[in-house]
Amino acid sequence: MNLLKPLTATPSDKKVYIETYGCQMNVNDSEVVLSILQDCGYRYTEQIEQADLILANTCSIRDNAEQRIWGRIDQFHLQRKKRPVIVGILGCMAERLKEKLIENGKVDIVVGPDSYRKLPELLKAAQEGQKGVETTLSREETYAELTPTRLDKNGVSAFISIMRGCNNVCSYCVVPYTRGAERSREPGSIVREACQLFENGYREVTLLGQNVDSYHWKSEGQDVDFADLLEKVAQINPLLRVRFSTSYPSDISDKLLKVMASYDNICRHIHLPVQSGSNPMLEKMRRKYTREWYLERVAAIRREVPGCSLTTDIIAGFCGETEQDHQDTLSLMEEVGYDFAFMFQYSERPGTLAARKYEDDVPAKVKTQRLEEIIALQMKKSEERYASMVGTEQLVLVEGPSKKGEGQLCGRASNYMMCVFPDKQHTAGDYVKVKVVGATPATLLCELV
Ligand code: 5AD
Ligand code: SF4
Repeated sequence: MNLLKPLTATPSDKKVYIETYGCQMNVNDSEVVLSILQDCGYRYTEQIEQADLILANTCSIRDNAEQRIWGRIDQFHLQRKKRPVIVGILGCMAERLKEKLIENGKVDIVVGPDSYRKLPELLKAAQEGQKGVETTLSREETYAELTPTRLDKNGVSAFISIMRGCNNVCSYCVVPYTRGAERSREPGSIVREACQLFENGYREVTLLGQNVDSYHWKSEGQDVDFADLLEKVAQINPLLRVRFSTSYPSDISDKLLKVMASYDNICRHIHLPVQSGSNPMLEKMRRKYTREWYLERVAAIRREVPGCSLTTDIIAGFCGETEQDHQDTLSLMEEVGYDFAFMFQYSERPGTLAARKYEDDVPAKVKTQRLEEIIALQMKKSEERYASMVGTEQLVLVEGPSKKGEGQLCGRASNYMMCVFPDKQHTAGDYVKVKVVGATPATLLCELV
């Protein structure tokens, strides 16, 4: 099995262009889609003007994500005026809106996250002028044996989906409706994919799932949880770095932290979305932990995996959020000191529990102001965290030339911080030791040692 198909594997005149929105899982899904399309004769192009098939792999997480895609659909339509082009909408927005997406006549096919194997059929029908919508969710589909066609630019770092769907019912979140029930992928296929990537020169894999801590594979005498899986992947080769995302605060186990601590090639970084620092908000959000539980997990991480960086997601202005709730979020951020955070205003999503049960009652102006305060505090914390690294030595996996200037390379430290340094000897995929000599709130300025 060749896991890394060259992009030009199948000679054909048909070209596919794909835009990906949303999370890393969507990036990996686009790679799966390209693999399926190559098998039916499409070649990948980065030029929309050359494409016979234009796809958008979409995100529904917030309303503005969807609005952006409606705008892109109009743009795609302009291409159809120049030549025959099939336009397809994939992913979460496809799953959520289904037929609504073809109503304005600008989209030909709509395919949800569990239906990508149907693409060849739908395309054939579309070529004959028939529009198609396929959004059945599955309890089994993991695309386990498919070989993603890699879209990364550097050939160093790749994503591997280890599970699909989500069984949490966070009241604000559309994902359980767009991606269906949680299912784990057979561990052997994950390890094989990682081995193949390593053999093909990749030096970093990121294991992806909505909630990796609930990964569980039980079958034919095998009983593998996420800590076991992580260990199996880490054992492939000490030169293969392993990252993972996303962790869920009530499920992240001591066993996992112990495995992390035992392998230098498991990166010192955990993305641990907190969403809010207020217990009443966490309860309303249906997160299954309290502020105290979360802080205890942070303490366990700091104890078991020293130097581990922490990043998070925060929502400002959820239903009924008071000024005190907001202050609790700020004080939690102050206490944890995240290296980085994704920060959002609450956006009501139709069909979710919160949309049905709670009023979206925080005025837009207040949401904006709270988000600004959250961003300002995070900026200060990032600045402190990055500055605290000055004087330390870091092992960096080179990703390639830096945009910061001629003769500079960039790559990440184990803790995910981006490092930039002058270097003419090394190339993408090399490990180099650097000393941190300066910092901005998002980059470590380094020198080779
Ligand atoms: N509004 C705003 N942010 C949201 N997220 C998920 N749903 C919503 C919503 N309705 C954020 C959460 C999640 C991240 C991926 O997106 O912080 O962790
Ligand atoms: Fe990813 Fe969630 Fe957006 Fe779907 S809705 S693409 S799962 S971030």
